[in-house]
Amino acid sequence: MKDGLSANSIYRKDYTVYPWDIDQLDLYFDIGSESTVVRAEMEFHLKGEEKETQDIVLNGSNLQLVSLSLNGHLLSSSDYAISGETLTIPHAPRKSVLKTEVKVYPAGNSALEGLYLSGAFLLTQCEAQGFRKITWFPDRPDVMTTYRVTMEADRSEFPVLLSNGNQEAAGDLADGRHWVRWQDPFPKPSYLFALVAGDLALVEDNFVTRSGRDVVLRIYVEEENLDRCEHAMESLINAMRWDEERFNLEYDLDIYHIVATNDFNMGAMENKSLNIFNSKYVLARPDAATDADYQGIEGVIGHEYFHNWTGNRVTCRDWFELTLKEGLTVFRDEEFSADMQSRAVKRIRVVRDLRGRQFPEDDGPMSHPIRPDRYVEINNFYTATVYQKGATIIRMYHTLLGEAGFQKGMKLYFERHDGQAVTCDDFLAAMADANGVDLERFGRWYSQSGTPQVHVSDHYDAAAQKYTLTLKQHTPVTHDQQTKQSLVIPFAVGLLNAKGEELPLQLENETDASGSTRLLVLEKAQQEYTFINIAEAPVPSLFRDYSAPVKIFYDYSHAQLATLIAYDSDAYVRWDAAQRMAQDVILEQCRRHANGKEMKVDSSLLRAFRGILSDHQADPALLAEAMILPDEDYLAEQMEVVDVDGIHAARKFIKQGLASDLVALLAERYAELNDGQPYQKTSGDMARRALKNVCLSYLLETSAGESRAIAQLEASDNMTDTLAAINGLILVDSPIADGALSEFETRWREDTLVMDKWFTIQAIKPGPGTLNRVRELMQHPAFSIQNPNKVRALIGVFAMLNPTGFHAADGSGYTFHADRVIELDGLNPQIAARMASAFNRWKRYDDPRKKLMKAQLQRIAAVDNLSGDVSEIVNNALR
Ligand code: BES
Ligand code: ZN
Repeated sequence: MKDGLSANSIYRKDYTVYPWDIDQLDLYFDIGSESTVVRAEMEFHLKGEEKETQDIVLNGSNLQLVSLSLNGHLLSSSDYAISGETLTIPHAPRKSVLKTEVKVYPAGNSALEGLYLSGAFLLTQCEAQGFRKITWFPDRPDVMTTYRVTMEADRSEFPVLLSNGNQEAAGDLADGRHWVRWQDPFPKPSYLFALVAGDLALVEDNFVTRSGRDVVLRIYVEEENLDRCEHAMESLINAMRWDEERFNLEYDLDIYHIVATNDFNMGAMENKSLNIFNSKYVLARPDAATDADYQGIEGVIGHEYFHNWTGNRVTCRDWFELTLKEGLTVFRDEEFSADMQSRAVKRIRVVRDLRGRQFPEDDGPMSHPIRPDRYVEINNFYTATVYQKGATIIRMYHTLLGEAGFQKGMKLYFERHDGQAVTCDDFLAAMADANGVDLERFGRWYSQSGTPQVHVSDHYDAAAQKYTLTLKQHTPVTHDQQTKQSLVIPFAVGLLNAKGEELPLQLENETDASGSTRLLVLEKAQQEYTFINIAEAPVPSLFRDYSAPVKIFYDYSHAQLATLIAYDSDAYVRWDAAQRMAQDVILEQCRRHANGKEMKVDSSLLRAFRGILSDHQADPALLAEAMILPDEDYLAEQMEVVDVDGIHAARKFIKQGLASDLVALLAERYAELNDGQPYQKTSGDMARRALKNVCLSYLLETSAGESRAIAQLEASDNMTDTLAAINGLILVDSPIADGALSEFETRWREDTLVMDKWFTIQAIKPGPGTLNRVRELMQHPAFSIQNPNKVRALIGVFAMLNPTGFHAADGSGYTFHADRVIELDGLNPQIAARMASAFNRWKRYDDPRKKLMKAQLQRIAAVDNLSGDVSEIVNNALR
């Protein structure tokens, strides 16, 4: 198997243009859950003038071929060749009409790719390569054509028949059947095709675009969910307005449809005018959804809507260019959320996510540049690197060019490429040309993997009143790449005096002091910056607003961190300083724990957290973020060899120490925030709930917590408060936790999204009993291994968010998890591969755990007929 990976790889450098243009694709579906007949008709035109004939090469997978005809002649099996997923018709004439008929089996499709069944309806998922599971077609994003789709089905079973674009015609047929025809006027790649057929209810609204187009907005859900669509609709309308105001981009059709399904591999999908969403990112009602759910819905609705321009109107040449649409669209959804809620809080959450998920990925067996050079299974490359690091690189253009320059670049990008399938180089060229700047060196971010490190040192010259910062960059080699180059790293700094006041900044070569934040642009391996007229040794406020996907190393003293925590004007720096101090203290206790020494609570941390908690000026949501201690996985990433139990013990010890020292203040702040006012979904109310529930989680480390949690649970009118209370009671082993869990179950057992939360709060509980509980829960009637949300809520959470459970020293967590990966691989390879990645960091643990994890990876790798998805993950990990 060692060479299997390279043998199956697809390389970016091998791209070739598809030789044919396709005018229009006519699709006809005879819909049935057990089997659906798909007929396709398309006209091929050979590009260029040179040749008279050319092979037609199509993709298909799991299709039962009924018939194939070319230019009116039925083809027999000797007229074409099928090998793997490709069908070749040799020497087709310059103009060729191809007709195909196939049968597919939706109800038996557990991979949730292609056409499949969810509850009472059928739906499709085509990105990246699912269209080939529906019909034979050149299933690649640079082949774009217009689609006309006719569906026929039983009217009572499938009253709603949807596809992309506008409804053109519909009618009744004999025997209670009906048909509907849709036409999408915009040429699109096959991955944006969608179809939905079944019994769905809808909520309708409308939006008038800036130029006066009246757009009908419909959200389709299962009947019982009609009362949970309001927030999604409001988010959609906000997204449409925001894209006009901020990006000058208007919607381009008269209809925008969203369909919610419980069975979805991802979060949501941007099919042209027919978005399909995981119901988790549509449905919300205060009693059933948390504030995080509300924010998630707003962000994902925005994201898929924004793809209409960045993804659909301008799409990717091939899948190596995925970050062209995903990085850019994540940047846009981050900005949308920042403009709708609190910019600073959004920024911190984005940074936490990047550091927590993307940095480990970039340092592990799956490291790859945001534009990869090779893959085995494209589904494995919808990664934190392509998405979150990709978005950070788009943000760097924005930082370097400013809002106006960035928008000039976007405008040129659309002028040049509307209707095309293009590359990241084209995006970079538009940004460079629109601004008259050279971005060649900046382009290295697209091809270099790994997380750069910036090491900062400083020197204060009191006599000359000069302060010099020296920045050195270095990118450690990664699994996939042995040599690294210097990158362009925007790096914003400020300087504070001992009182926490911001100093005016003047660099040596500048004539005047101006402003208190200076954007430095590091391009070489090492650069020095000298600030003049600095009257005392300053505290450097480094990397304001987190301006690049890099790790910053500077030997901060606790006194310096305390100044930043208390006074810095940049919310990211304040938060980061608190995280650094907490991390430093926890890792120190972890070392003491390992050496058999008693752990201690650090007094500067106590003072800093007391200051945070006493701050009545700052946004409570920011204070909440600052008080959340770095999580166990993030701490693990900072250690040479991960000490699973030591980290857990040290973090717990520090949290308890903080809680008992600050108990009076925590109780006071909790009481003041727990004001008994009815639930509202405003960002101010969410912020207060966030801080309140962080206070509660600390209080639960003391004897003052339990009674408050019980009272909160009883009084709660919303899921945020309910879940925080129950989760807290479980974590501290309260005797009433079991009762609370079973009451929760009784109330919500029919509600699939809420039951996901019920599974999660049990799977996340640290300690040895949890694995057995997870096993039991797999037998619960609400659990199904076929449903990705359930798998993520129970199995995924146990493996990825419960380090002491998953990494139990006896290896029981590993064996259990490998069994699940193997079981899932037979059902849904995409989900199986995501789960398999829980083993990716195996080399960072102690020898006994390494051995145990390696054995499980080998056991998975040895399974017969293992999918390419899982095989790529485990073989990379083993290499
Ligand atoms: N295009 C993707 C959905 C997708 C990804 C479908 C991979 C099939 C395979 C969509 O735009 C997306 O990126 N969705 C994200 C959520 C988003 C807010 C980052 C997802 O599904 O996780
Ligand atoms: Zn996307």
